[in-house]
Amino acid sequence: MELKVISQPLEEVKSEFLVITVFEDEINNIDYIQSLEKKINGKIAKLIETGEVKGKYREFTILHPEGIEATRILIMGLGKRKDFSLDRIRSITANSARYARRIDIKEMAIHDFSNCNVDPTESAECIVEGILLGMYRFDKYKSKKKHSHKKLKTIQIVTANPDIAEQLEAGGKKGVVLSNSANFVRDLVNEPGSMMTPTRFSELAQEVATDNGVDIKILERSDMQKEGMGAFLAVSQGSDEPPKMVIMEYKGNPGGKTIGIVGKGVTFDSGGYDIKPAAGMLRMYADMGGAAATLGTMKAVSELKLPINLVAVMSLTENMVNGNAFKPSDILTSMSGKTIEVLNTDAEGRLVLCDSLTYIQKYYKTDALVDIATLTGAAIIALGRTVSATLTNSDELYDHLYKAGEYSGERVWRLPLYEEYRAQLVSDVADIENVGGRSAGTITAAIFLKDFVDEDQDWIHIDIAGTAMMEEEIARYVKNPYIPKEGGTGTGTRLMFHFVESFCN
Ligand code: BES
Ligand code: ZN
Ligand code: ZN
Repeated sequence: MELKVISQPLEEVKSEFLVITVFEDEINNIDYIQSLEKKINGKIAKLIETGEVKGKYREFTILHPEGIEATRILIMGLGKRKDFSLDRIRSITANSARYARRIDIKEMAIHDFSNCNVDPTESAECIVEGILLGMYRFDKYKSKKKHSHKKLKTIQIVTANPDIAEQLEAGGKKGVVLSNSANFVRDLVNEPGSMMTPTRFSELAQEVATDNGVDIKILERSDMQKEGMGAFLAVSQGSDEPPKMVIMEYKGNPGGKTIGIVGKGVTFDSGGYDIKPAAGMLRMYADMGGAAATLGTMKAVSELKLPINLVAVMSLTENMVNGNAFKPSDILTSMSGKTIEVLNTDAEGRLVLCDSLTYIQKYYKTDALVDIATLTGAAIIALGRTVSATLTNSDELYDHLYKAGEYSGERVWRLPLYEEYRAQLVSDVADIENVGGRSAGTITAAIFLKDFVDEDQDWIHIDIAGTAMMEEEIARYVKNPYIPKEGGTGTGTRLMFHFVESFCN
């Protein structure tokens, strides 16, 4: 995909497909296309007059104009000005690109959204994200690829103001890296469990590290045994696939702030002996969405050479059943020394994460520690499928993450971490139980993790169980054109990228 920023009046743009936008409640205010309008005899104004173009959100109208260089104009409705957001740019450009692809167009030109009072860097980033995220497909295993010849090859962002071309260029480049990283995460998540094993994941992490000059270390089962990771290892015990802990370190600002990210990478979660019912097990190849988002963040941060330091830990294992598997009521000794009573082998994510949190805090000093995981079905019950749950001991971290969520469209909402929830995790025989009962499931999972975080460590937990995967049935009401209707959403990478960028600023 080639991205060009061109400073040219719209009427001079050579393109098969020129996209412009109009607001519903400012439908007569189309000053920015006035010179274009002149050349096409006020055709757009006429369509507005007759009510054919109303500017309703996602309304689209196609013109085949004469008198200008472009062969088609797509007029996209932006809806009401007060409802405008950067995310609407993504949605609009995703729709436009998909439309262009459907009619086999290879190149698309789009105006710079100067009618929207947005920062040019941000608008270009969102234009590109909408297009690249919106065109994603996972068709690797289809012998007949749907319209594989149909590919948009070039995007031109058109501005009438040469002074902002540089900003558009920078934002566009960032958009390319961020969307490619998110699409990479989608690919990782979409691979079935037998393909995306801990070993395969760690090979891909190795590739990312090599490509971007990032330090990498991969712990094998024997290394984890030496560290005493009794909780993590218990989860791996029932699987023939060896577990891996991948640690990547990017140093973009020696002496500056360091962020740590820990991602849950359960490459298949059968539930273990507390086995999941068939319907619940169906998509559990996606239970490594946290680790995938962590790798995606590392990829984006290192490609864009952010002036920050980032340590990423990806904890990879299957949760399976065999004669060796851990059992309900087992008592585990974690790396921290705390003992854990296993009430349910399906609450494996927190067992993997607790040792990973202990590990990262033992070997790295971080100014902020993030963990991201498809941790609890209860997060879906609490917040649905478009907002991730977050819990933290730091208002400051929440502030940064919340803003990153609003900006990226990968929104988060905070749940409380009150100490009183700890009562649900009290064990008769061990220091803590791994399950706190049905009520407040997302909170008790976070309370469990908090037990493994040092008092003075600023930490934020992100539960993406509801947001990492899309399903056809849910897509019917979520209706986000840049998120696939089925499969991995790539969530977490753009969110965490903007979080680390803002935290280290
Ligand atoms: N991987 C699941 C959580 C999950 C559920 C992710 C649905 C995505 C969609 C996790 O390991 C799990 O099974 N959690 C249990 C915990 C329970 C046993 C306390 C759950 O949420 O039911
Ligand atoms: Zn589970
Ligand atoms: Zn799980």
